[in-house]
Amino acid sequence: MEDLSPRPGDLDPIETASRDEISALQLKRLKTTLDHAYRNSPHYQAQFDKAGVHPDDLKTLSDLSKFPFTVKQDLRDTYPFGMFAVPRERIARIHASSGTTGKPTVVGYTQNDIEMWATCVARSIRAAGGRAGDICHVAYGYGLFTGGLGAHYGAEKLGCTVIPISGGMTERQVTLIQDFKPRIIMVTPSYMLSILDEFRRQGLDPRNSSLAVGIFGAEPWTNAMREEIQQDFDMHAVDIYGLSEVIGPGVASECVETKDGLHVWEDHFYPEIIDPETGDVLPDGELGELVFTSLTKEALPIIRYRTRDLTRLLPGTARAMRRIEKITGRCDDMMILRGVNIFPTQIEEQLLKCAGLAPHFQIELVRAGRMDDMIVHVEAMPHAADDTARAASAKELAHHIKSVVGVSTKVRVGGPDSVERSAGKARRVVDNRPKG
Ligand code: DLL
Repeated sequence: MEDLSPRPGDLDPIETASRDEISALQLKRLKTTLDHAYRNSPHYQAQFDKAGVHPDDLKTLSDLSKFPFTVKQDLRDTYPFGMFAVPRERIARIHASSGTTGKPTVVGYTQNDIEMWATCVARSIRAAGGRAGDICHVAYGYGLFTGGLGAHYGAEKLGCTVIPISGGMTERQVTLIQDFKPRIIMVTPSYMLSILDEFRRQGLDPRNSSLAVGIFGAEPWTNAMREEIQQDFDMHAVDIYGLSEVIGPGVASECVETKDGLHVWEDHFYPEIIDPETGDVLPDGELGELVFTSLTKEALPIIRYRTRDLTRLLPGTARAMRRIEKITGRCDDMMILRGVNIFPTQIEEQLLKCAGLAPHFQIELVRAGRMDDMIVHVEAMPHAADDTARAASAKELAHHIKSVVGVSTKVRVGGPDSVERSAGKARRVVDNRPKG
């Protein structure tokens, strides 16, 4: 694979600034943000008053811990536009999360917010090894989901030629990759695997494709999956993180030259790690729930938003800004089986060790009597699809899960294409336990 390290002069000055410069900028912007939220959003004013804090109480960055958290429910309670801090007429764009339960969460952007967002995504694409002039195939979904349009505006901002294909119609994805020869692809890692299958179905060797960089996010994926995709496509696979409540994709991103976690674009988003039980701020390096405060947003300033994502803050490497460790899972995705905490990513890691199995999987939770049970649905590779090979693969995966994760599970090995596919975020867990 190509060496895609940045050349001198490629980076924004803030990407190589000192820690002191970054902190000074953050403090200035944090004060402005708290002030803006308090003065212009009745929701924040009520929350701050209730907690007995005022924007003037922030003298240092660590004073932020005095301010109340914001949670997804706050956005639901103020549905649709109740948390906006600018008049509706100044909102240039709306996005929303699909919301599997309850009302969707609605977020808004002013023209300046969209500009800032595009700058962060452009920086992320450049960190991944993208350059002006590259053709960029955007297969994240377009629409209310922030993935498609977020990637699109960032790629345009960097100076790329953008192919706005969105998700789905996998056969056409491959045709257009073959015909337009993009250097960059932006897509969920699970959908990239479907594109991989389609290459093979069409008798094409994915290693001969034009793709040099994949920018994958919107769902957890492991380093084992990175290795798999890099091998199969002979391309760099780089992680991008974000969430709609904070802005969308481009809150944090990996650098292609290090691939050692995601640098938070700390000039726009201030990260904290808290203990999810007590809400206490944890020191850098400790594992906990990621919390973000926006530093430059106008339409929807977000103060101490609890992401539910679990990670730790690490010092900067390829850039001055701190990193988050690759996200292993969300508090909400954690399954507890006979006392053992399990994340779907742990299953992914074990699955990728099994040569007879494809990388697609879904976990089904069932109840047998009074006990919860987990069934891992996977697929045989075409070369290992007969009964004997499938039984051996099932045994092998169950063994890896038992010895590394520490629980006994049932493994069902179906034929090729038997596991549910998604053109966006994969649904990793299906809960079929009786309700109530
Ligand atoms: O998924 C934004 C996005 C689009 C990010 C495209 C990256 C690429 P939401 O739909 O609001 O926004 O979902 C946000 O997705 O809290 C995480 O749980 C998860 N997530 C996003 N990126 C990653 C990642 C978009 N790189 C939620 N690794 C977040 C792990 C991720 N989880």
